Amino acid sequence: MADEMLRVVEFYSGIGGMHFALKGCRFSGKVFAALEINTTANQVYQLNFGDTKLLQKNIEGLTVQDLDGLSPDVFLMSPPCQPFTRVGLQGASKDPRTRSFLHILELLPQLSRSPNYILMENVKGFETSDTREQFLHTLKACGYSYQEFLLSPTQLGIPNSRLRYYLLAKKKPLQFHFATRDEIMESFPYMITRDKCDNQCSDCGRDCVAEPGCTTNEVKPTGLLPASDCTVDSTHRDRHNTGCLKCLQAKVNVELKPVLDKYNPTNCRKIGDYLEKGNNDNYFEKYLLPAKVLSKFVLLLDIVNRQSARSCCFTKAYGHYAEGTGSVLKMADIDDTEIFERYRDLTDDQSKLELLSVLKLRYFTPREVANLHGFPSDFCFPTSVSVKQQYRLLGNSLNVHVVSELLNCLFQSPT
Ligand SMILES: C[S@@+](CC[C@H](N)C(=O)[O-])C[C@H]1O[C@@H](n2cnc3c(N)ncnc32)[C@H](O)[C@@H]1O
Repeated sequence: MADEMLRVVEFYSGIGGMHFALKGCRFSGKVFAALEINTTANQVYQLNFGDTKLLQKNIEGLTVQDLDGLSPDVFLMSPPCQPFTRVGLQGASKDPRTRSFLHILELLPQLSRSPNYILMENVKGFETSDTREQFLHTLKACGYSYQEFLLSPTQLGIPNSRLRYYLLAKKKPLQFHFATRDEIMESFPYMITRDKCDNQCSDCGRDCVAEPGCTTNEVKPTGLLPASDCTVDSTHRDRHNTGCLKCLQAKVNVELKPVLDKYNPTNCRKIGDYLEKGNNDNYFEKYLLPAKVLSKFVLLLDIVNRQSARSCCFTKAYGHYAEGTGSVLKMADIDDTEIFERYRDLTDDQSKLELLSVLKLRYFTPREVANLHGFPSDFCFPTSVSVKQQYRLLGNSLNVHVVSELLNCLFQSPT
C-alpha cells in the first residue's frame, strides 16, 4: 500500500476501540466519520477524539449519498453482537439489532466508490450465522477477497481471553500479503502451525523442512529462523510460496519480527503489569466484592492474582453480575487453597465472610480492564460516566492490539 492517508469510516464507534487500533497500526489513516447511536458512548468518544466528526445517528438511516460523500477507503465496523452470542437467542439476521449491519450490506453494492478495505469484528458464534452467509455473499458479489479469523489477545501474549470473530476484506485487484484460506484462521497469518503447512512448496516442489521440536498443531511463533540461517536460497525466497514453512519463516523474520518482539507471545505478561499503581488500599475499597456477591457466588468466581498470566473475558455486565462476566483479583498475597478448604467446613454466613475477607477480592477497575484491552494510558472517561457504565462500554468494546495487528495484515501489500 502506498504511503497515503487512508480515509476511514468507523461504524458502531462506541468508545473508539477501532480508532485507537488505527492509531496503533503501522499505516496512516484518518477517521473521517464515526457513527454511533449511544449517547454515553459518544460522550467518551468525543472526549478522546474531539477532532473527529462523530455522527450520533442510526446506521439504518444512512443513504448511498451519505457514504459516497465520505469517499471512504476503509470501513471499520463492530456491529452489535447480542444476536450471535451463545447466551442470546441467536436470532442473527432475524434479530432487529442486525438490521443496521444488513443495511450496510445493502448499500455496499450501490456505492460509486466502495472502500478498498473492510475490517469487521464480532463474537464467536457469528461464523455459524446466516448473517455471515449474507456478508460473504455480498463481499464476493462486490469483488472482494477476504479472510476470516477467530483470535484472542492471549495469542499476542496478553493475559486476557477474548475470543472474537474478525473478517478482513480487500477489493480486487488488491491482494493480501498472505495466502488466504476458505477456512477460518485461528492464528495470525504469521504464526504458522505445523499442520497448516503443506509440507511441500507448490511453487518449486521442494520439501518443507520443519524445525526440530515442531509438533502438530503447535503454534510456532518462536520457531522463526534468523533470515541468514534460512537454507532456502534467495531466488526462491523472493518468489516465496506461503505454503512453505521455510519461506514463510524467512518472510516473517523480515516483516514481522518487530511485532513478535513487541508482544512476545511465548512470554505471556502477568496480570500485575496491567494493574493501577501508586494507589493505596483505600482507593480500591469501592471495588471490593460486596458481601452479597461473596456469600452467593464466591465458588463460581474466576479468581486471579498479580502473578497470573491469564484472565477471563470482561463482559458488559462486569461488576454487576458476578458469574462468568470476568475475573476478579485477589489482592492479598496468600495462597487461597487452605482458606477455601476451611470455607467449605463452615456453616454460618458471617464466619464465611470473615474468612473470605482475608483474600481482599476485588473487581478490576475500569482503567485496568482498559489496560488489558490495550487502550492507551491517555484514554479517559468523562466524570459524568458512572463506573457501571464504564464497565458496560468496555465490555462492549474490543482488544485494541488485536485489531491493530489485523489492520497491519489488511493494509500490507504483497512484497
Ligand atoms: C459491539 S459495540 C461496538 C463497540 C466499539 N467498537 C468500541 O470500541 O467501543 C456495538 C455498538 O453499536 C452501537 N449501535 C447498535 N446499533 C446501532 C445503530 N443502528 N446505529 C448506530 N449505532 C448502533 C451500539 O450502541 C454499540 O455501541
